[in-house]
Amino acid sequence: MFSLDRTFRFDTDISQAWTLPASWYLSDQMAQWEDQRIFSHHWQWVAHIDELREVGSFVTRQVAGEPLVILRDEDQQLRGFFNVCRHRAGRVARGCGKRQLLQCVYHGWTYRLDGSLHKTPEFQAPAGFSREAMALRPVEVAQWGPFVFARLSKEGGLSLEEWLDPIPAQTKHLPLEKMRFFKRVDYEIQCNWKVYVDNYLEGYHIPLAHPGLFREIDYKQYDVECFRYVSRQHAPVRPREDSLYVRHLAAGENPEALYYWAFPNLMFNFYPDNLQLNVILPLGKEKTLTIFLWYLLEPDRPGVEREFAASFAFSDQVQKEDIQICEEVQVGLRSRSYTQGRYVPERERGVHHFHGLLWESLKHKIISEE
Ligand code: FES
Ligand SMILES: [Fe+2]
Repeated sequence: MFSLDRTFRFDTDISQAWTLPASWYLSDQMAQWEDQRIFSHHWQWVAHIDELREVGSFVTRQVAGEPLVILRDEDQQLRGFFNVCRHRAGRVARGCGKRQLLQCVYHGWTYRLDGSLHKTPEFQAPAGFSREAMALRPVEVAQWGPFVFARLSKEGGLSLEEWLDPIPAQTKHLPLEKMRFFKRVDYEIQCNWKVYVDNYLEGYHIPLAHPGLFREIDYKQYDVECFRYVSRQHAPVRPREDSLYVRHLAAGENPEALYYWAFPNLMFNFYPDNLQLNVILPLGKEKTLTIFLWYLLEPDRPGVEREFAASFAFSDQVQKEDIQICEEVQVGLRSRSYTQGRYVPERERGVHHFHGLLWESLKHKIISEE
């Protein structure tokens, strides 16, 4: 059992700051607070818009341990609800599909697509029973481009566009509305989710950990820009003839790749003709699921898999290199020899920014429950 280090205080001066204590990556208490204060309060990716185009189409998801159902109602609105029946907590939907009503799988109470209670078999409502008060509990849902997001709690929260700022404005020139889901690749990693995010947020490890990627980019120019909940990494591509990216981007109008992270766990990698969303989900304090979602222009046309084969293979290679590093770091964090480290200001501003946001979300827990 690792007890949480509550003496840590985040330092906004990166040159003076120490990194997060190892126990923050290892404690059950921290994982619980992260669900309550972080994953419940920030927008989470839940679906592709293609899955929810028709009235009655729905998907089921889990966010911060909560079962959700996301659907399109009869007024064409996207809606989200806790997937928890108001009778005795059964599921009102399983998997995904299309329905006119949601029917609880346990005793068959039904709900309309707006969440209102419809039928309650064999139950004669007693005096004072309010059907309105027994509607499914809603969650917020919003769409941006081909993505659908949900948020459990809006307490003090920003709208989806505000939270994503400046990504929507900076990607206006890309045909996002036309990008369609093509494929999903999952990787399970034996590390805390923050180890993986830390690793994504710096390019400092590229020379040693990703020799193939290092050859593709101009490492000296690698830069990070931090915004409120977003950071952007910029790595110009080296103009080499045999470069994967140059070949890949030649068809595009704007030969620039944009890499954004949005707190806490989403990464958007934009290219002129495709984009990749990475969703990083904790599966326990030392296990993480990373979901890679590929979106392409006209994904149904013949030969797409072949056309993007080199990109898929390259991404897989980089991911495997990162997985090895992250799993070794997790073991290192458990070592009695390690408690905290230091940031390299030139290279690790994105990591420091992430840790500042974690601190902002959790500090009152850390301080007040001492
Ligand atoms: S729990 Fe849903 S009908 Fe009983
Ligand atoms: Fe990496």
